[in-house]
Amino acid sequence: MNILQVSAEYHPLLKTGGLADVTGALPAALNANGCDVRVLLPGFPAILAGLQEPTELLRFHTHGGAELRLLRGTLLGTTTVQAYVLDAPGLLDRPGNPYEDAHKQPYADNHRRFAALAWGAVQIAQGGDTSWKPQLVHGHDWHAGLVPACLLHAGGGQPLLPSVFTVHNLAYQGLFDVARFPDLGLPWSFYQVEGLEFWGQISFLKAGLHYANRITTVSPTYAREIQTPELGCGLDGLLRRRQSDLSGILNGVDGTIWNPTTDPLLPHRFGSNKLLGKARCKAALQIETGLHTHADAPLFTVVSRLTEQKGLPLVLEAVDGLVERGAQLLVLGNGDAHLEAAFLAKAQQHAGRVAVRIGFDEAFSHRVFGGSDVTLVPSRFEPCGLTQLYALAYGSVPLVRRVGGLADSVTDTQPDTLASDTATGIVFNHMDVGEFTHALQRAMALYRHPSQWDRVQRAGMRQHFSWDEAAQQYAALYRSLIPA
Ligand code: ADP
Ligand code: GLC
Repeated sequence: MNILQVSAEYHPLLKTGGLADVTGALPAALNANGCDVRVLLPGFPAILAGLQEPTELLRFHTHGGAELRLLRGTLLGTTTVQAYVLDAPGLLDRPGNPYEDAHKQPYADNHRRFAALAWGAVQIAQGGDTSWKPQLVHGHDWHAGLVPACLLHAGGGQPLLPSVFTVHNLAYQGLFDVARFPDLGLPWSFYQVEGLEFWGQISFLKAGLHYANRITTVSPTYAREIQTPELGCGLDGLLRRRQSDLSGILNGVDGTIWNPTTDPLLPHRFGSNKLLGKARCKAALQIETGLHTHADAPLFTVVSRLTEQKGLPLVLEAVDGLVERGAQLLVLGNGDAHLEAAFLAKAQQHAGRVAVRIGFDEAFSHRVFGGSDVTLVPSRFEPCGLTQLYALAYGSVPLVRRVGGLADSVTDTQPDTLASDTATGIVFNHMDVGEFTHALQRAMALYRHPSQWDRVQRAGMRQHFSWDEAAQQYAALYRSLIPA
């Protein structure tokens, strides 16, 4: 099966969150399962820089008039995946953040930039590469939301190709003023409730949800949650109507990148039967971040975008109590200015016991997971969550809220789960500081009980969230849509 994957991010070239981890890992996993997956990416500077031996296939114009070149090549860091990249100086090839300007405001022409991505997919569907033709297009998140609509329009009312649309986060919707509609290159008939209109605006996300043949999201629980008013972000009605086309496929862990027995980014390597290296990683991390080098102070860590979604005000509220009980906290993150400032203030207040690094630092994140005892993920909502999966692999016990993919991947420590060796973390239910504090105390108590701690830690490290399994589910979905 020839599959064209369309996304805005791709690990290892460009990553602002878990989307890149998924779009970077899935093609190779699918190719190992009998698919021929190629990827289409916007020509952001980091993507262009990683495109090797580019060949120009064709040129076309956006509806705003900009000229785009469709390039084909291979991507640095991947051996097997062929890529198409849209090169458009000024429009896509723009320094800085891929989505926002220097003031953290979305670029005013994002609708044009990501409509161009969808029309690029149409070019490939129409035979833009004479040596390879996709049989299905799989788009990720709102950036690729227009793809199914453009395929439908280009096919004159019958989609040129079947499509799958994966929602990694329903909260990011790609909303634009209706005055921008003529820039998209679609006729006004698409601007309707049964289309891409959303409360008087254009919604790229809704376009994907409405026009794709199948919708997936990144965990079974999130697939159910988004059909409720509470977590449906206003799209729950549409998702309920499309229930039979909607499924949840849990993300995996790319073991070539996230494996503590081989990880070259760790100062010391370790495995579930050789945990000495982990203790050394912790000591090295404490030194690196200016935390007191107390081997038996439980080290709680956060690796996260600092946004509303992640529930981090709970951590801010609980941190004083945590350090009073002898624990340490290390935060690696960036995002909302007020959260960045609040965490930095806590680091000042508790020097040696709380450390905070603001920024996005992939290599450092490996060292954090390597040295961490407990990874905190108290999210308000979490479509899948990858950090708890990496934590499990690296022997850091995840402490998570029972929501979305967190609920699907972490088993709470209770007498019965401990006895059956299925306990892998600490799970709490509500966004409530009392409940969260109680969960922290349970984690501390577990830590002070080495034989139980050991069992939970090792059970976590034995978990295997494989991309292979996810790829098989995606491949089955593709098969059901591609005519024999
Ligand atoms: P989300 O996609 O909502 O941000 P995930 O848990 O799915 O959440 O994925 C986050 C990814 O980004 C993980 O690979 C995590 O390690 C990484 N990450 C998040 N913040 C940072 C940061 N400040 N520095 C380095 N990596 C980060
Ligand atoms: C999103 C979600 C996160 C998920 C990731 C990859 O960014 O917030 O939960 O793990 O996408 O699917």
